[in-house]
Amino acid sequence: MILPIYIYGQPVLRKVAKPITPDYPNLKELIQNMKETMYASDGIGIAAPQVGLDVRLIYIDVDVIAQSRPELKDIRMVLINPELEVDESSKTVTAEEGCLSLPGIHENVTRHDRIRLKWLDENWRPHDEVIEGYLARVVQHEYDHLEGHMFIDHVSAIRKQLNRGKLNNMVEGKVDCDYRVKTVRPQRRR
Ligand code: NI
Repeated sequence: MILPIYIYGQPVLRKVAKPITPDYPNLKELIQNMKETMYASDGIGIAAPQVGLDVRLIYIDVDVIAQSRPELKDIRMVLINPELEVDESSKTVTAEEGCLSLPGIHENVTRHDRIRLKWLDENWRPHDEVIEGYLARVVQHEYDHLEGHMFIDHVSAIRKQLNRGKLNNMVEGKVDCDYRVKTVRPQRRR
């Protein structure tokens, strides 16, 4: 089932998400719904707060952009309760990011290029890997959502100011995108 995407201004996007417990109800169904929702909105990653749930669950599929980045071929990950450690000694890379919860905004974000990630997959098997390059960026972006952060928090005050109108419109429910959304005020098409 495709779920609506929660848009900037929704309080759930600013909460620190809670760990998922093994008895979390209908987890398999939630993962399936997040996948369907992400594919329907052409995303490469989605975090549970973006479908209105303050739990630590992420789905990533970077295989869909493997044509331009061959190293991402076949990479699809369900991350339950991920633990992220940024390698502060790694180089920083600046690249453009977007977010399903911030439709129409694309800004450069500088992030470290290497992380260590521990997580549980959908079968509750533990993983512990060092991840580099573009995937490290995607994981950091999605992990931010679990901490109540969004990529717009990382851009300069000036760039944020330049996007202020768009951000205010999102809060007001004025959002143009071709997927279902949930805005704070009822959505008004412009
Ligand atoms: Ni995002």
